[in-house]
Amino acid sequence: MVSESANGGMGGKVVLITGGTSGIGRAAAAALAAMGAEVVVTGRDRERGEAAVEEIRRDSGNERVSLVLADLSVQAEVRGLAEEFRERHDRLDVLVNNAGLVQSRRVETPDGLELTLAVNHLAPFLLTDLLLDLLKKSAPSRVITVSSEARRGASIDFDDLQSERRYRGFPVYGMTKMANILFTYELAERLEGTGVVANCLHPGAVSTNFAQNNRGPIALLFRLFKPFMRSPEQGADTLVYLASSPEAGELNGKYLTDRKEVSPAEPRDETSQKRLWEVSEELTYLKVAS
Ligand SMILES: NC(=O)c1ccc[n+]([C@@H]2O[C@H](COP(=O)([O-])OP(=O)(O)OC[C@H]3O[C@@H](n4cnc5c(N)ncnc54)[C@H](OP(=O)(O)O)[C@@H]3O)[C@@H](O)[C@H]2O)c1
Repeated sequence: MVSESANGGMGGKVVLITGGTSGIGRAAAAALAAMGAEVVVTGRDRERGEAAVEEIRRDSGNERVSLVLADLSVQAEVRGLAEEFRERHDRLDVLVNNAGLVQSRRVETPDGLELTLAVNHLAPFLLTDLLLDLLKKSAPSRVITVSSEARRGASIDFDDLQSERRYRGFPVYGMTKMANILFTYELAERLEGTGVVANCLHPGAVSTNFAQNNRGPIALLFRLFKPFMRSPEQGADTLVYLASSPEAGELNGKYLTDRKEVSPAEPRDETSQKRLWEVSEELTYLKVAS
């Protein structure tokens, strides 16, 4: 077992990573556990989840790794995840909103929401809100959200947020990744002075299971490019930096890749940022629409 004084500076810290069963999330979990953190990962399937936990324990040499089951496309399960986490832990030092997907065909969740929006944006939004008091209590603490450069050129279509009129898998994915950035900017502003910081990142093009939930061109494209992509460990580097390094603890409201801030292609859109927050509150029932 890794003690609080373990090398790496994460001893005594509790980290929650969504989507820790594969890819970037699993690699980040192993790296942070190796630095001494107690790591909780989420998964949808018990068998796969437990296998991932065993691998993370083995790779990190740290036994303090555990699993919470939750399908993040279902808001009741996001609420259940937050509840279970609170029952088991009295602190949260780093929340990593990592789980995400691209979906070639439009699918609705049991809550009647478009799946990509539900998992990639609304689940992080809701989970962060539900755990915010614990993060504040544990300050200095950090919220990290995994975005993507697929956000380039994307904008939030507030008239068709559920992509009912028009659905195209990759542009919808790009919109949700833009939502991750706008969410981070707004969250960072709201957290100013609380000791909790919020940042997001692009991990690069990473060889993971990403897109393999689809059939057809999207899955094929990702499979073909796998040999040219980064390893999950390389893809997790900026995430691990944001989660653990002392200087990253000073950052708030930043979007990074390769440990550096990405210069925004467009000026900040404060109006969309605030509007997205309000719509997200309504879609997660944190606020009833007036
Ligand atoms: N790979 C890239 O090139 C790339 C580039 C830019 C950004 N990203 C972002 O990086 C993040 C991690 O992706 P990855 O590349 O590591 O892909 P991955 O290997 O497919 O991992 C995605 C993780 O998200 C989980 N997940 C998906 N849908 C879920 C749901 N409904 N409920 C709960 N968990 C769910 C998966 O769980 P299951 O095991 O249960 O499916 C898995 O653990 C994503 O946010 C993605 O947008 C990836």
